[in-house]
Amino acid sequence: MPNEQPIGVFDSGVGGLTVARVLIEKLPEEEILYFGDTANVPYGDKSPEQIVEYGNRISRFLVDQGVKLIIAACNTSSAISLEAIRKSFPVPVVGVIVPGARRAVKATRSRRVGVLATEAAARSGAFPRTIKQLDPGVEVITQGCPRLVPLVEAGELEGPKARRICGEYLQPLREGAVDTIILGCTHYPFLLPVLKDITDPGVRYIDPAAETVDEVIDLLKTRDQLSRERERPARHRFCASGPGDSFLVSGRVMVGDLITSVEQVRL
Ligand code: DGL
Repeated sequence: MPNEQPIGVFDSGVGGLTVARVLIEKLPEEEILYFGDTANVPYGDKSPEQIVEYGNRISRFLVDQGVKLIIAACNTSSAISLEAIRKSFPVPVVGVIVPGARRAVKATRSRRVGVLATEAAARSGAFPRTIKQLDPGVEVITQGCPRLVPLVEAGELEGPKARRICGEYLQPLREGAVDTIILGCTHYPFLLPVLKDITDPGVRYIDPAAETVDEVIDLLKTRDQLSRERERPARHRFCASGPGDSFLVSGRVMVGDLITSVEQVRL
């Protein structure tokens, strides 16, 4: 596979942009093909079968476009469909759960970790399972947060409503005295200013994006597939299964002029 092929990144919507922006920062030579499945967002209230089906369909599209690696920049998809995608496609597939868990296990002092996630990802049990594989002595409290993705997709990243909803979801983690909280959904880093503002300053938030990108760098290095120097700046492509203009509007609220246009692709 040629080194200049793009890296495929997908999510149910704009959340995966939190991973794409770190990828662009750390690997400016690489081109990204981003797919936001906005026709089916949120994934958090879907069945495991549907989530596997979406993951396979998107991966088929990305592989047909020639990507050299896929990042499932979606915790819900990583929790539920990663193995199915890995079995079906001939490119490496990186998820976000293991990188986030790894970083949280390193960070916690009290050995009590909280996770904010979608309901489907929380129900899958993937977070405690992965964390306990890394360190069986760490206690994990997972909180499903069905109202956060709609807030982010609507660009409501601050204000009294966002504070109230975030506060409700943080309460069980406060009661569980965790010192580290995984943002177990790629949409949530956009709410970090609100979350931090209403959390004890001793608590550390983990955004899995940086660790995920480090894993991608290691993998591409090992496979000798890092992009070589280009004559022109890297060109990224952003696709959405729903209307392109609404993805463009909310995407630009999140990551500014990183996105200049969005193609609508119905799968
Ligand atoms: N951003 C995704 C995640 O990381 C999915 C959120 C959703 O669509 O419910 O889980």
